[in-house]
Amino acid sequence: MNIETLPINMNYTDDKHVSVNKFCEDVISGLTSSPKRLDSKYFYDATGDRLFQDLMECPEYYPTKCELDIFANQTEALANAIIGDKGDEFDLIELGAGDAMKSSYLLSHLVNKGINFTYLPIDISANVIELLDNELSENIPGLIFRGLNGEYFDMLKKAAALSNKRKVVLFLGSNIGNMPIADAENFCFKLRDNLSHGDMVIIGFDLKKNPKIILDAYNDKGGITKNFNLNLLKRINRELNADFNLGQFDHYPVYDPETGACKSYLISLSDQQVNLGSCNKSIRFHKDEVIFMEISQKFTVQQTKDIAISTGFSPVDYLFDTREWFTDAIWLARYISYI
Ligand code: AVJ
Repeated sequence: MNIETLPINMNYTDDKHVSVNKFCEDVISGLTSSPKRLDSKYFYDATGDRLFQDLMECPEYYPTKCELDIFANQTEALANAIIGDKGDEFDLIELGAGDAMKSSYLLSHLVNKGINFTYLPIDISANVIELLDNELSENIPGLIFRGLNGEYFDMLKKAAALSNKRKVVLFLGSNIGNMPIADAENFCFKLRDNLSHGDMVIIGFDLKKNPKIILDAYNDKGGITKNFNLNLLKRINRELNADFNLGQFDHYPVYDPETGACKSYLISLSDQQVNLGSCNKSIRFHKDEVIFMEISQKFTVQQTKDIAISTGFSPVDYLFDTREWFTDAIWLARYISYI
């Protein structure tokens, strides 16, 4: 199907399934590294999406509630920052849109104001894009949108090819925290490289705070975070014909208040071998050996400003929730001379 010829408001997803080959490759390269690791981007199959929804509602997991507070109560400030004074049409692109719960406030506000824009949600989960397609047309009548299912930069390039309008990129939920700081910096640089002078990004950063609050959020009493991590093993079992014994792995979250790195591991509870049927590969685990599953980096405001400056952006404005646990940073793509 040729994307260029598609009408803009048609339900459309592509790259529907992560290919088995790529998944195998990533899992094997992760499980043969030292320490063993798995890529947290694979958390989000249909069950993973549902578990993350449950997490967002559990009492300990605060980031979504904080950002919702910002989007629900400072919608006007956000909208005005985005619209600017030019009154030009723009593309509002959201990386990792999820259920678009937070952005919905902004989208409704912009539609009600009669602002001309197209909403382009990008998500790695085909399941998410499908749900969004259905819900947005129902809940925000008049919204012009097109869902893009795939990796961020592939889809960002696709979005850029669709129009030459000014771009406003949302990267919310502290998804940027899923990268170590150096990678986050590279990511911002790459993002800037895909944008033009005058484009805008709004990035959600989870801030450093009382370490106990942070650790609790990644160690909920209901065990949702644990299941969220174990679900990736389940996914590997299903999609790669593997035989992980979920009862033989335990969840271990840590938070280092010095670096702001919150990490989760799975611990192998015995010496065991796991066969990855579709990949023709077996992996041995020693008792107490860990798999590094995910980082959720926490930042200081100053750190985020430093990242902006060093990657070609100017920090314009910072919005905070009432407790100041979270910030949505508004950055402008600065003019860069490559000479
Ligand atoms: C969706 C990446 C923002 O890191 O806080 C929640 C995922 N992992 N609990 C986060 C997650 C464990 C979440 N992000």
